Amino acid sequence: MPLTVRPINPRRDDFVAEAAGIDIAAGVSRETAVQIETAMDRYAVLVIPGQDITDDQQYAFSQHFGPMETATGDLPRLEERRLSMDINDISNLDRDGAVLARDDRRRLFGLGNMLWHTDSSFKPTPAKYSLLSARVIPEEGGNTEFADMRAAWDELDPKLQAECMGLVAEHSQLYSRGSLGFVDFTDDERLKWAPVPQRLVRRHPGSGRLCLYLASHAGAIQGWPVPEARMFLKDLTEHATQREFVYSHRWRPYDLVMWDNRAVMHRARRYDHTKHRDMHRTTVADSAPTLAQPL
Ligand code: OGA
Ligand code: MN
Repeated sequence: MPLTVRPINPRRDDFVAEAAGIDIAAGVSRETAVQIETAMDRYAVLVIPGQDITDDQQYAFSQHFGPMETATGDLPRLEERRLSMDINDISNLDRDGAVLARDDRRRLFGLGNMLWHTDSSFKPTPAKYSLLSARVIPEEGGNTEFADMRAAWDELDPKLQAECMGLVAEHSQLYSRGSLGFVDFTDDERLKWAPVPQRLVRRHPGSGRLCLYLASHAGAIQGWPVPEARMFLKDLTEHATQREFVYSHRWRPYDLVMWDNRAVMHRARRYDHTKHRDMHRTTVADSAPTLAQPL
């Protein structure tokens, strides 16, 4: 079956599409992968329904799009992990498949996914694509929302655009989690997640479009007083996440959703924490730190 792609977002026709005619479990050709990347350059978020896949199949599919990240941004120690280091565990489950207690440290850390963010901007080379596979979803709640950072840039006041251009923000999971009052990091975690610099405005290579590069991980701007930087980042985030820029995804079991972290922010929405939600994420790394990429 040939690949077909159709826009599904009533608010904008160049943001979020659904793909059909792909069987990830069976493997896709190089040619199909190129078509998918072309669609990603246009739509930034691609929903691929009906993909009942294993972690290995998800990983093999993801590898078409670049070098893979390992899950070094996850909190659980190796011996506590439920999934391999190739898979980000986006669930509320422990190794035995039981729902984490309300006050479990892993759960509280995971709540950070409910803040608007882009994946791995706290790593020197951040993420290009994330691919999230819904294995078990709660009956209600737990949508994932996506905000279009290209449109947010295009519709930003030109004076603000000029002010943003050339700024460098510092990103760390210590900032995003800290903003929720999660501050009991170990010395190792503090070292591992020391802030890294990222451009505030970047050019998306596949589309040529400029994008705001924001995330809850951003907690400082180089050369600015911290409170002023955080207030500025909050204002920009408020602008960038207005409803007109946002698509909310209601999950069905075996949806695979892939998004371009260079062009969108995303966040998880609340759900009943006593219900199972099991999502597996593979992550494709970007080509270089944003400061090493052409603007
Ligand atoms: C992620 C993420 C949001 C969600 O997988 O990177 O932020 O809805 N997920 O689980
Ligand atoms: Mn995320």
